[in-house]
Amino acid sequence: MSSAPHIPVLLEEVLTALAPAPGECHVDATFGAGGYTRAILATGAAVIAFDRDPDAIANGRALEEEAALTLVPATFSALESELAARDAVPVDGVTMDIGVSSMQLDQAQRGFSFQSDGPLDMRMSQEGMSAADFLNEAEEEQIADVLYRYGEEPKSRRIARAVVAARPLTTTAQFANVVRKALGHRPHDKKDPATRAFQAVRIHINGELDELTQGLEAAERVLKPGGRLAIVTFHSLEDRIVKRFLRDRSGAAPGGSRHMPVTAAEREPTFEITARAIRAGEAELAANPRARSATLRTARRTGAAPWRLEA
Ligand SMILES: C[S@@+](CC[C@H](N)C(=O)[O-])C[C@H]1O[C@@H](n2cnc3c(N)ncnc32)[C@H](O)[C@@H]1O
Repeated sequence: MSSAPHIPVLLEEVLTALAPAPGECHVDATFGAGGYTRAILATGAAVIAFDRDPDAIANGRALEEEAALTLVPATFSALESELAARDAVPVDGVTMDIGVSSMQLDQAQRGFSFQSDGPLDMRMSQEGMSAADFLNEAEEEQIADVLYRYGEEPKSRRIARAVVAARPLTTTAQFANVVRKALGHRPHDKKDPATRAFQAVRIHINGELDELTQGLEAAERVLKPGGRLAIVTFHSLEDRIVKRFLRDRSGAAPGGSRHMPVTAAEREPTFEITARAIRAGEAELAANPRARSATLRTARRTGAAPWRLEA
């Protein structure tokens, strides 16, 4: 294992939003290298931390031995049932730092990166359908759809056609080259077009946008009145989901949302937005370029009942 340590993004700002205190219990829904968890533990609060990546959980076991930490090897869409099973509802804070960790990106064999060649994998949980399974088996139209929706790739059809023609794809370099060739990319072009395609396939393979929506809805159900929510996202598709959720749930959206229609009686605000979107400052960007695309949104739970979800 050779990877740069993951530097926690917007750590101070997340801590300020969560305001953990001794005796409280906070959920770190994305344990990763434990950067947020360690900082929360240092305040005297207990932490229940989730990660769907068995490597992240295995690396955290030593910390669990010595601190008020419980590790949960699960996706955060299962937040509510996993907390209920541990008799841990309600909690004082929930934080999510969405996306991949530096460890995942830097290990070629995980297949998240085209900077170093590796198997076309991209599964955070290390189980289920891999990127290779998807790209080699899906219909051309479905591949185009994923590239368009999750990569905002305008030439998605052209890439999908090239992928199907080049099958079977087995490595990240192979996939990146197919994308570059399909788009006529030159080596010194500023942005590698494979970036968008990799993001799209990764989001699809890991069901990332559905996870986020379900995680936010679960947070609403497990936070106690006055409980704090802090969500860090890394691209506009994710941030849009968080922004809409908080806008709806704070009563800022007239008439509920298109996605979650509710009746008037159920529309009492469940969150108060506690700050505008927060971005990393110059000093953090200088130390950690990965922070450039991060956005933090924060809110406080009200005493209102959670919104009933449409079946
Ligand atoms: C950006 S890293 C978190 C880094 C962490 N805040 C730190 O300071 O070390 C994201 C982590 O969340 C995990 N993850 C992403 N989506 C998840 C989900 N839906 N459920 C559980 N874990 C998830 C990934 O496996 C990864 O380890």
